[in-house]
Amino acid sequence: MSYLQSVPPHDLGAHLAEHDSKTVLRFITCGSVDDGKSTLIGRLLFDAKLIFEDQLTNLGRVGSPGTANGEEIDLALLLDGLEAEREQGITIDVAYRYFATSKRKFIVADTPGHEEYTRNMVTGASTADLAVILIDSRQGILPQTRRHSYIASLLGIRHLVLAVNKFDLVEFRQSVFDEIARDYRAFAKKLGFVSIQSIPISARFGDNVISASQNTPWYKGPALLEYLETVQLDPPAAERPFRLPVQLVMRPHADFRGYAGQIASGRISVGDPVVVAKSGQHSSVEAIVTFDGNLPTAAEGEAVTLVLADEVDASRGNMLVAPAARPFVADQFQAHVIWFDASPMLPGRGYILRTETDSVSATVTALKHQVNINSFAREAAKSLQMNEVGVCNISTQAPIVFDAYKDNRATGNFVFVDRATNATVGAGMIDFPLRRADNVHWQATDVNKAARSAMKSQRPAVLWFTGLSGSGKSTIANALDRLLHARGKHTYMLDGDNVRHGLNRDLGFTEADRVENIRRVAEVAKLMADAGLIVLVSFISPFRGERQMARELMEECEFIEIFVDTPLEECARRDPKGLYEKALAGKIANFTGVSSPYEAPENPELHLKTVEEDPTTLALKIEAFLDGQRGDR
Ligand code: ADX
Repeated sequence: MSYLQSVPPHDLGAHLAEHDSKTVLRFITCGSVDDGKSTLIGRLLFDAKLIFEDQLTNLGRVGSPGTANGEEIDLALLLDGLEAEREQGITIDVAYRYFATSKRKFIVADTPGHEEYTRNMVTGASTADLAVILIDSRQGILPQTRRHSYIASLLGIRHLVLAVNKFDLVEFRQSVFDEIARDYRAFAKKLGFVSIQSIPISARFGDNVISASQNTPWYKGPALLEYLETVQLDPPAAERPFRLPVQLVMRPHADFRGYAGQIASGRISVGDPVVVAKSGQHSSVEAIVTFDGNLPTAAEGEAVTLVLADEVDASRGNMLVAPAARPFVADQFQAHVIWFDASPMLPGRGYILRTETDSVSATVTALKHQVNINSFAREAAKSLQMNEVGVCNISTQAPIVFDAYKDNRATGNFVFVDRATNATVGAGMIDFPLRRADNVHWQATDVNKAARSAMKSQRPAVLWFTGLSGSGKSTIANALDRLLHARGKHTYMLDGDNVRHGLNRDLGFTEADRVENIRRVAEVAKLMADAGLIVLVSFISPFRGERQMARELMEECEFIEIFVDTPLEECARRDPKGLYEKALAGKIANFTGVSSPYEAPENPELHLKTVEEDPTTLALKIEAFLDGQRGDR
């Protein structure tokens, strides 16, 4: 699920219908852990009498004396998820609140401030019109303030409020406010916000939250709520083209077929023409079916099922779109990526890329630069660490449908999911498709893989030996190679040490370099399999993700993972190249098993234990496996 869809407000439709004539302001609050985000929202709701009685009775229990009401109410308690926040000292998820005044309706996402929680901020910010960035007036602008502001602008937020909080603690001094507001403006100039309003507040005591505070007579601007009620939102953009990402094909019986999803943008009416984005098939809308009956027309945000006049092929991940304004369909594009995860983003590594409805394997083919959050300078980088933002070229295994994020936030975003942990590790905003993808085509060749392997009387295979250095991979592969060769099979051995003398001589042993090492050798193995060969690949290949990527490059059953399982102590005892001695003495950096991890295969086709059997026996075992797998070897 992409971040735009997460935590959908259940009662939103009903809630909005009630107040239909008013405009809606979606906003987020961002700040560091102790800046008082939750207290501010609590204060807003409480002072504007927007909370319910039953919620009030629960408050105050943890309080101590001293608010405007004579009794401290723990305003932060008004928010969802707060018990957890208390226990951990941080807000752990995005809490949405809905409230309305006589002038406007509000949806607020309270986003966590802990450095690690950029992910939640992105979730909250991706649909917001405005961001309230809180800072502690005693501390001024911090790195997080800059990061949150930059991410807000990146996510398309156009209005910004700088809430200079805890102003009571600096004795309401105008000079403090002026300096912070000036510094912030200077910083944010390049971020392209349409409006920036700085307000000196005390969320705890209510100064300038709902109404002007007597403690800041020198401040002539609006109080926070007043500003939120009146800030001029962008006029609704000229209607954007119709986009329905297909979530589900409904086929309850033979004569009904409908395409269900939530309209990401634009409007559709019965009779309108549509195109299936990936195939270009044309049709028109015969009916718009919803839970509450058929509609003549439907628009952005509505969940509908479209019945079309023709049979088309549009499964999940495809999009029904306006014929006159089509989205991009491409497998290479540039995007801004925000990285959330503790393990860095590495070019060459395979991730799952998810859009609103699609899910494909993807790799970052190039990290073009990283953005310095303080200076906005472009800096060269080999990887993206947690909370960093970079501009990347991305390649997907199959074409996806998208718009540029600046044109459509819903169809221009994606998330990266880690293959192994299934965690959301990054979010992306697509800039544009890469033209080179348009201009590079597959060339059909007459002498193909089938012809080449038939001539060799064999079926191609990639035998992927993985294991620690010194585990015996090359020795066993070599023994097997001799056996196959003796039987007239056409083989080739790709060995880590050898390939690192040529094709991969520019690569070292950092995580990023190993990922690239494996990516290249997997591509070479694929070409060799395409040439009809039986390829024996003998690389440490320490990471599951890259071995999985190699597997996915090959055809079904073609990739055979062979885990050469030798305990580290045994490898160190054998130490054929004297490397363990050096590594254990700290003389080799990033040595697998010593100072760099090895992720053992979980489901290899073959698991060989070299302490129990000698290389020739193990090679015969692999040969037997191949014979058993396919009679023709
Ligand atoms: S991989 O991790 O990127 O797959 P590869 O199989 O190509 O490694 O190369 C491993 C060989 O490089 C080892 O067998 C060893 O001879 C040599 N080597 C040199 N430095 C290291 C190191 N830091 N870690 C592991 N192997 C190393």
